[in-house]
Amino acid sequence: MKPIISPSLLSADFANLQRDVEMLNRSEADWLHMDVMDGVFVPNISFGFPVLEAVSKISKKPLDVHLMIVKPERYVAQTAKCGAMMMTVHYEACTHLHRTVQEIHAAGMKAGVSLNPSTPVSVLEDIIGDVELVLLMSVNPGFGGQKFIENTIQKVQRLRQLIQQSGSHALIEVDGGVQADTAPRLVQAGTDALVSGSYIFKASDPIAVIRSLKELDTETKSV
Ligand code: DX5
Ligand code: ZN
Repeated sequence: MKPIISPSLLSADFANLQRDVEMLNRSEADWLHMDVMDGVFVPNISFGFPVLEAVSKISKKPLDVHLMIVKPERYVAQTAKCGAMMMTVHYEACTHLHRTVQEIHAAGMKAGVSLNPSTPVSVLEDIIGDVELVLLMSVNPGFGGQKFIENTIQKVQRLRQLIQQSGSHALIEVDGGVQADTAPRLVQAGTDALVSGSYIFKASDPIAVIRSLKELDTETKSV
C-alpha cells in the first residue's frame, strides 16, 4: 500500500503561501497538514484560523489540521468552519477526549488523536475504536526540522498491534523528522500517512520529493 503524503505547511515560505499551496495542488500530495500552535501547549506560536480559512479557499487537498493547543475542544466549530477534513487533538491536551471526539464528528470532521513522544500507545486502548487517525509525534512538537526519535518505529509497531486487536480502522500518521532514511522504515513498520515539512519545502524540487515519498510501499527499501 502506498502511503498517504501530508506535507506540513509549517515549513512553507509564509511570504509566498499561495505559491506554495498551488505547488502542493499540482503535486501528488494527498492531504495538506496544518500545525496550529498556541505558545502554551508547545513553546512556539505558528498561525491560527484566519490563515486556515485563507488556505482552505485555495487548497485542492483536504486539510489535515493538527492542533497543538490546550483545550482544543474550544475550537471544534471554528476548525469545521475552515473546511477541515481531519481535526487532530493531543491526548495530553484533552481532559474529556471521548467527548471532544464526539463533538468533532458531530461537526462533520474526521477525528484524530495525537501522542507526544513520551506518551505510550496503551493510553489509546479505550478510544482507538472511535477515532479515524492516530498521529504519533516523532519529535517533541513545536518546531520543524528536528531530529527523528528512533523509538517511534517500535511505537508504530505497537500501535499497529493495538489497532488489529481492537478491530479499529484508525490510520497511523507520523509527524516529525520524516525524510529519506526514516520514511521507508516508517512505512515498513506499518505507517499509513507521512507528515513531512522541511524535507519537502527545503528541497530544490519539492514535487519530486513528494513523488518519491508517494512511491514508497512496504517493499521499498529506500527513497
Ligand atoms: C512539529 C509539527 C510538524 C512539523 C514537522 O511540531 O507538528 O508537523 O512541521 O516538520 P519536519 O518534517 O521538518 O520535522
Ligand atoms: Zn504536525
